[in-house]
Amino acid sequence: MTIAAPLVAKPPMTPMMKMSDEMFRVVREFIYQLTGIYFQDNKKYLLEGRIGKRVQLLGLNSYEDYLQLIKYGTRRTEELRHFYDAITINETFFFRNEPQFEAFEQTLVPAILARRGSLTRQKLRVWSAASSSGEEAHTIAMIYLEKLRTKYQGLELEVVGTDISYAVLETARKAVYREYSIRNMPKHYLEKYFTVEDVRYLLRDEVKRLVRFDHMNLYEQTRMRQVTNVDVIFCCNVLIYFDTQSKIQVVSNLYNALNRGGYLFIGYAESLHGISTAFKLESFPKTVAYKKE
Ligand SMILES: C[S@@+](CC[C@H](N)C(=O)[O-])C[C@H]1O[C@@H](n2cnc3c(N)ncnc32)[C@H](O)[C@@H]1O
Repeated sequence: MTIAAPLVAKPPMTPMMKMSDEMFRVVREFIYQLTGIYFQDNKKYLLEGRIGKRVQLLGLNSYEDYLQLIKYGTRRTEELRHFYDAITINETFFFRNEPQFEAFEQTLVPAILARRGSLTRQKLRVWSAASSSGEEAHTIAMIYLEKLRTKYQGLELEVVGTDISYAVLETARKAVYREYSIRNMPKHYLEKYFTVEDVRYLLRDEVKRLVRFDHMNLYEQTRMRQVTNVDVIFCCNVLIYFDTQSKIQVVSNLYNALNRGGYLFIGYAESLHGISTAFKLESFPKTVAYKKE
């Protein structure tokens, strides 16, 4: 039996435009000045692929033209939104680092409330800095509903999730998730706080209304200095993308944003060694937190 060849051939894919080493260094410096993210030499392919797609989509002839557009073009602000989406890696999921959430609920919150001298009629302010699509911020909100609200009658929670990528913030606000996001979530939370529709998991309003999402670049000094009065910051799995100098700047601003007695969590593979000595390191089962004394 012969199989007939398709009548219509697929159009050939336009090959990705090559990025010279010199252009890579220019783009890398531009990104660094803007966001604090530092692309190592071995990540050139990533920038070439992702920015190359924008160059093609906009019908531009070169990366030089793209840089002109994003630096000086009349549509600069609009393109910057796509640019942030293109250069970031947004991997996240619910209950990503469980020991952190346990330490938060069992030790940090009691310590923060005890320090204030009253266990009730309090507001707890939590910041999920670099929240991506909101799984971390929503995990905190569910823990409040499940555990803290009954333990501390009258305790209010305010969670703010921020990220540099506009696309992930949109997903966070919609709070409609896929299998990948819920894979580490205890079944009980899934049943109680989500509605399942086909392969989509819709977070219930009860959780959504505890969390607000805003755009924020952690490397933007002016904006960062406006954040104050936070009790706990989760700034996880983002410092790895910064170099030492940008880490120092960002962590110093996070420190200033915290209340005395407040805590900072960073990612499992991250450390403040050589970055800050301002915090007191506290150990918990399978995790650590950085305290502002
Ligand atoms: C790997 S995700 C981590 C998400 C979540 N914190 C977690 O641990 O699961 C890193 C996030 O950092 C964000 N990001 C990178 N640079 C940033 C910056 N300068 N300011 C704010 N967010 C940034 C990215 O957009 C991305 O969503």
